[in-house]
Amino acid sequence: MNILKQKNWKISENEVTDESLFEQRRDFLKLGAAALVSSSVVAEKLAAVESTKRASLQFTKTSFGKDLELNSFDQASTYNNFYEFSLNKEDPAKLAHTLKPNPWEIEISGEVERPMYIDLQDILASYPLEERIYRFRCVEGWSMVVPWIGVTLAHILKKAKPTSKAKYVQFITELDPEMFPDQKRGIFGNVPYPYVEGLRIDEAMNDLTFMAVGMYGKVLPNQNGAPIRLVVPWKYGFKSIKSIVSIELVEEEPLNTWQQINPKEYGFYANVNPEVDHPRWSQAKERKLGSFFKAKTLMFNGYEKDVGHMYKYMDLRKFY
Ligand code: MTE
Repeated sequence: MNILKQKNWKISENEVTDESLFEQRRDFLKLGAAALVSSSVVAEKLAAVESTKRASLQFTKTSFGKDLELNSFDQASTYNNFYEFSLNKEDPAKLAHTLKPNPWEIEISGEVERPMYIDLQDILASYPLEERIYRFRCVEGWSMVVPWIGVTLAHILKKAKPTSKAKYVQFITELDPEMFPDQKRGIFGNVPYPYVEGLRIDEAMNDLTFMAVGMYGKVLPNQNGAPIRLVVPWKYGFKSIKSIVSIELVEEEPLNTWQQINPKEYGFYANVNPEVDHPRWSQAKERKLGSFFKAKTLMFNGYEKDVGHMYKYMDLRKFY
């Protein structure tokens, strides 16, 4: 087992949390039982302040998406799908302070010559981070344009040396009910946890497939999948699994969470496709966060020339 563990770059809490927030925390503790303000309101306020005090990252800019019009940080960080916190899109920004993104380790296992644990700090320290502006299209019909910061998944996978048996890659989100309140509800929760996703090996190795550790110049806010998430811009957003702790290279196609919940409506591939409707709504158009009007959805979310070849001989109605 190859364990990469030199920690020569750290985010200290002072970098993430400014002094006024420390003061607010102290005041919060002083409030005690006699507080007039309910503790949940204070916790929400602290979480909101905290999410604006994220550590900056060093990265190189790229030409990906340079002509796209960005959504604002507020739009992208206050309207989230993160069921481990809530089904309500406004809730993750208020509740995600329970997620502790540091320390964090990802296990890479399965069909690889060099199984390993990678510490998040090693990714931040030893991989050259780049910024990529991508379109992001949710299966529900909303979209956004976000400047992600991270590394290609291929870069990480190559270190582990996938064997010839590695046909698919399975990703798993951390299972820790102390961090993710909906996981406490067990089978009565909204989703069978842990959240699982998968890609075919060629999709995983495609240059567009990105492991994001940041957005808008700084580390990811918890509600967007801190400390590390997948971003697959030509697929519906549910494929872009958050807060990943396991990457396993496997021979068989993994059963992803949404396929498990409702296989008639959600498939393994989930490629953005304006011509294949969801059984309950059209996928021809989308509403970008903050826009009043809908715009036409693009084939493969506008990335056809980079990814179309991978699906050339596939019936995209069958492999939805
Ligand atoms: N990952 C986990 N672990 N849990 C989730 O609920 N939601 C998915 C995806 N990744 C989800 C997840 C869905 S449905 C979408 S649309 C995107 O995350 C939303 O990402 P965002 O909140 O950064 O916009």
